[in-house]
Amino acid sequence: MARDLVLSFETSCDETSVAVIENGNQILSNIVATQIKSHQRFGGVVPEVASRHHIEQITGCINDALKEADVTYDDLTSVAVTYGPGLVGALLIGVTAAKAVAWAHHLPLVPVNHLAGHIYAARLVEPIEFPAMALVVSGGHTELVYMPEENKFEIIGETRDDAAGEAYDKIGRVLGINYPAGKPVDELAHKGQDTFKFPRAMDSDDNFDFSFSGLKSAFINTVHHADQINETLSREDLAASFQQAVVDVLADKTDRALKEFPVKQLILAGGVAANKGLRERLTKNLAAFKDTKLELVPLSLCGDNAAMIGAAGEMLYRHGARADATLNADPGLEF
Ligand code: KG4
Ligand code: ZN
Repeated sequence: MARDLVLSFETSCDETSVAVIENGNQILSNIVATQIKSHQRFGGVVPEVASRHHIEQITGCINDALKEADVTYDDLTSVAVTYGPGLVGALLIGVTAAKAVAWAHHLPLVPVNHLAGHIYAARLVEPIEFPAMALVVSGGHTELVYMPEENKFEIIGETRDDAAGEAYDKIGRVLGINYPAGKPVDELAHKGQDTFKFPRAMDSDDNFDFSFSGLKSAFINTVHHADQINETLSREDLAASFQQAVVDVLADKTDRALKEFPVKQLILAGGVAANKGLRERLTKNLAAFKDTKLELVPLSLCGDNAAMIGAAGEMLYRHGARADATLNADPGLEF
């Protein structure tokens, strides 16, 4: 059988990434050039800075991805690229590079939704079994996605305000932790106790939506109030209480979704899927769902990367998705 080789691109935020994926599920290379250090002094991603870094990095990433995979342009079957959602200037660099490669080498171009990429990262470990559910939690998104079959995505719940990762990054700043704060807050949380009992917004509401801005405000007010009266609060307990509130809501809503939409597989994906507390809690909860297998995307593939875009791209290619030279970045792209 001829090898199916996708050259995939991901530049929607602050990682420049190019990968080569074989048959939709084997990573031959996955080059990720991170820009985190350049954004840290601003406390978050600066879109213009992100675009400039992508321009500088993209050709080097393409060359490295081909070299590491030990393939040439002539070996490729298709080119896949994230075209949204994300930062428009950042997306445009990947889209333009992918269009150029596809045009120059007469390859089909496949447009990929970034969130479909996060979900299909699961495929790089094991085939996805349908119907499936995905909890996608990242810096920009918090969504419960029901997939009755391959290439069908139904958003059944989403955040009404901040994304889970965004809330981590914002409360991290109050604790004096650099962007991105998710991992250090997660580590701190494991050394503390849930003593503050922060609000669990919408937890008992009869829907699958989330809200994290009230939790974030409660956290910030607690710290500021303590500052005013010169009281020292335990950073570990603050982190543990915040994390417990986030995990409670994410896990409870996921439980409710699995009861209403029985599935063969639950996929936990996105940057926040690396959260130890969330992984432990979902693993525990899933014991009650005997017919549902839990697929925790490996830590190395939770954050933004092009391998996941190649995994989704190969599936989309089979389903006939094609773009031409008019493909544009779509920062607000929905499923
Ligand atoms: O998916 P991702 O790399 O980029 C987006 O598409 O947003 O996710 C990045 C987000 C950041 O907000 C970061 O703080 C968060 O994922 N994150 C975590 C952890 N590791 C990364 N949040 C909670 N716990 C973690 N261990
Ligand atoms: Zn992402």
